[in-house]
Amino acid sequence: MSTAKKPRRSAYWYGGRGKSAWMHRSWMKNQGMPEDSFDGRPVIGICNTWSELTPCNAHFRDLAERIKRGVLEAGGLPLEFPVLSVSESQFRPTAMLFRNLAAMDVEETIRAAPLDGVVLMAGCDKTTPSLMMGAASCDLPTIVVSGGPMLNGRLRGKQIGSGTAVWQLFEDRKAGRVDDDLLDEAEQAQSRSPGFCMTMGTASTMASMVEALGAALPENAAIPAVDSRRNRIAQLSGRRIVEMVEQDLRLSQILTRDAFENAIRANGAIGGSTNAVIHLIALARRIGVDLTLEDWDRLGRGIPALVDLMPSGRFLMEDFYYAGGLPVVLRALGEAGHLHKDALTVNGKTLWDNVREAENYNPEVIRPWDAPLAAQGGIAVLRGNLAPRGAVIKPSAASPELFAHRGRAVVFDTIEDYHARIDDPALEIDASSAMVLRNCGPRGYPGMAEVGNMALPRKLVEQGVRDMVRISDARMSGTAYGTVILHAAPEAAEGGPLALVRDGDMIELDVEARSLTLEVDAAELDRRRAELTPVLPKASSAWRRLYIDHVTQADEGCDLDLHPGPQPLENPRPSH
Ligand code: FES
Ligand code: MG
Repeated sequence: MSTAKKPRRSAYWYGGRGKSAWMHRSWMKNQGMPEDSFDGRPVIGICNTWSELTPCNAHFRDLAERIKRGVLEAGGLPLEFPVLSVSESQFRPTAMLFRNLAAMDVEETIRAAPLDGVVLMAGCDKTTPSLMMGAASCDLPTIVVSGGPMLNGRLRGKQIGSGTAVWQLFEDRKAGRVDDDLLDEAEQAQSRSPGFCMTMGTASTMASMVEALGAALPENAAIPAVDSRRNRIAQLSGRRIVEMVEQDLRLSQILTRDAFENAIRANGAIGGSTNAVIHLIALARRIGVDLTLEDWDRLGRGIPALVDLMPSGRFLMEDFYYAGGLPVVLRALGEAGHLHKDALTVNGKTLWDNVREAENYNPEVIRPWDAPLAAQGGIAVLRGNLAPRGAVIKPSAASPELFAHRGRAVVFDTIEDYHARIDDPALEIDASSAMVLRNCGPRGYPGMAEVGNMALPRKLVEQGVRDMVRISDARMSGTAYGTVILHAAPEAAEGGPLALVRDGDMIELDVEARSLTLEVDAAELDRRRAELTPVLPKASSAWRRLYIDHVTQADEGCDLDLHPGPQPLENPRPSH
């Protein structure tokens, strides 16, 4: 048997005595790198989403140094590079408008640069899927280091969770139960340290998805950003990526169909964000796994929500970590027969080997399988004439008494229309109404804003109403809750049936039957469709033009239809 190894990718840049190699090395030497930096050792890209505009990732400069330390210890050459850092809390109209742009940035940097392996530094919501999508398209040895959650929010002796506190506080203010002093205090108390949102919002969910997929070291998802063990895992990940390059352990060996099935089930058990549906479908397509909405519904059925974290439950990410974190959840899934135990992970072991001995130190936070937080933890996928290509609901964050419901539609054409009218005392709406919001989808907003969890009308909140059925082509924040039906596809701006609803139409929701029906006959809908001219937003930049023209619908992951899918990483043509 031949033991000849294929040459490293970086050798194509740095190896030999040719003119190109001389040039590539010489310019790197302006950073003071000694000759042996280019002796064929693994070159490791550290893909950093540090930005002061992305506060959740603002501690990444130090974290990157920890990763480099590990790479150097293992004999690699670490090269840190920045990519577009998509900021959930600061970017308007919505961070989602830029996920694919960042993925492009990551992919093209990897394709163009002399890298043998890559460490992805992700934290805030969209930074995880954007980096994963970009790296998956290249299929190099890849490991993820998450930035970790913020310390638990604490306000006047109580825990408050990022995002979730916003929805609660402002609902309470509408009902007159919260004054400005408390709001001012909460503004700081919610955000006590570096890190991402410490609820089970999209960031915590996506960090958990990465760990369940096997793309990060065990425990990566939940270690708080400021816990010394976060630095430790960063350093260990730096060491490990060098070994992964030596073993040629690539992302396609990790991100298999089995791995995605494990992640979907883990999402059910953690009560994860609805945004994960879109991100995982997009990621799977990048690596050549055909994942569908049906997979989400089928695999999530029968998975109880075990993790009692806000927004569905009571606790926060610090509590989750101290209780044992994601390994405990994965072990519970495995013991219940809901895990592909042989799935390979980045440390070279199977997922089951990593978690089989995980101990649950707090069964209040991570509930036992037979005493869960909610019996139905997964994402339910609804279909019907209102969403022929599907819509989603997160039952564990919704009100069971609304799971089977008929109500009259109250329609808002845009989010501005909603803001202008929702608190008008003359608005014809009651607790049984179904609020409909449209033109907030991927093309229509553009970017599919997180506006689906519309706050309820003031007059109903004052009467004590706490939840109502809400339907849209938008997304909602992973920190939000309520009986909220999202991602209706096709979206209104694409001429989807949401565009045809009129005030007073009856809408029937049946979560058990997975149906969402507009009780208007087909002939009338055809008449309305004939009168309809869907309007797409004006594009104010080249990227927005490209996005509006090429973004796919939610059921396909909102990636660009331009992406050719998995393409082998070729050695690029000479630059001179
Ligand atoms: Fe960054 Fe929530 S805003 S993770
Ligand atoms: Mg968000």
